[in-house]
Amino acid sequence: VHADDRPLDAIGSTSLGIAFARAQESRRPDRLFDDPYAERFVAAAAEVSPLAGTMTGGTGSAAANAWTFLVRHVAIRTRFFDDYLADAVAAGSRQVVLVAAGLDARGLRLPWPPGVHLFELDQGPVLELKERVLQGRAPAGGARRTLVPVDLREDWPAALVQAGFDAGQPAAWLVEGLLPALTATDSDRLLERLSALAAPGSWIACDDTGDVHSMRPLLEALDPLLVALWKGGPGGDPAAWLRGHGWDPDVLDQEEEARRYGRAPEPGSDQAGWPRPRLVRARRQ
Ligand SMILES: C[S@@+](CC[C@H](N)C(=O)[O-])C[C@H]1O[C@@H](n2cnc3c(N)ncnc32)[C@H](O)[C@@H]1O
Repeated sequence: VHADDRPLDAIGSTSLGIAFARAQESRRPDRLFDDPYAERFVAAAAEVSPLAGTMTGGTGSAAANAWTFLVRHVAIRTRFFDDYLADAVAAGSRQVVLVAAGLDARGLRLPWPPGVHLFELDQGPVLELKERVLQGRAPAGGARRTLVPVDLREDWPAALVQAGFDAGQPAAWLVEGLLPALTATDSDRLLERLSALAAPGSWIACDDTGDVHSMRPLLEALDPLLVALWKGGPGGDPAAWLRGHGWDPDVLDQEEEARRYGRAPEPGSDQAGWPRPRLVRARRQ
């Protein structure tokens, strides 16, 4: 372990589970994207995550099925959000904000047009681990990438603006895999603060896996430790939630997107009682 490596906490370690899923997907001949960094994150995190053993697959058939579900869900949502960001920058957005960026390597693996400025927000130790693995690599096409260590339950907009974000220009925001870790109140505050920075024409996308209740059987099968980390996010209808904050949303069913990508359900991935995730994208009204 590096002298200056700070360990990841439990919620920070969930970024490792997502990297593990992206590494699995990247190995498939019919992969929906290729993330060459995911594998390296998984290897490096083993040194600094207390949950490295449990965030990278389990034993027994319930755990195996749950991991099949999670890997497939992450694969589909990753591709969906890749396409979302490509559409937003094609439409002229020159700022991209990865809210709770975790070990998401989009900053390096997507072909950004010149002039894009990417901001990545997450906890300091997660961003430090990420940079240690990325070893100073820069995004393609001359895009800029700025890391902003924050607590997303606190006043993070000040840090984002300080880092160079221009609230007068539209941005493409991505809130992937974060909301379930926040309470309804913290989710509302996050969206209020984000919306106050979102100029007309901005975009936002997030995933919706339902409330604590609908996630519980899946979380227990993945790792009972996760149950306590799940706070449920905003709860209720994500379209109404976004509309209430001045956004014009489209809520899409993960399985319909999966069909578009030619990805059939996999044995074990669709157990009764497991959630049916939705993928959400919206434009600022
Ligand atoms: C499941 S991971 C998803 C990471 C990334 N969006 C992805 O899809 O690869 C959740 C991330 O949210 C971050 N996170 C959760 N609560 C946070 C908070 N209050 N402040 C900052 N980051 C937080 C964790 O550190 C972790 O990296």
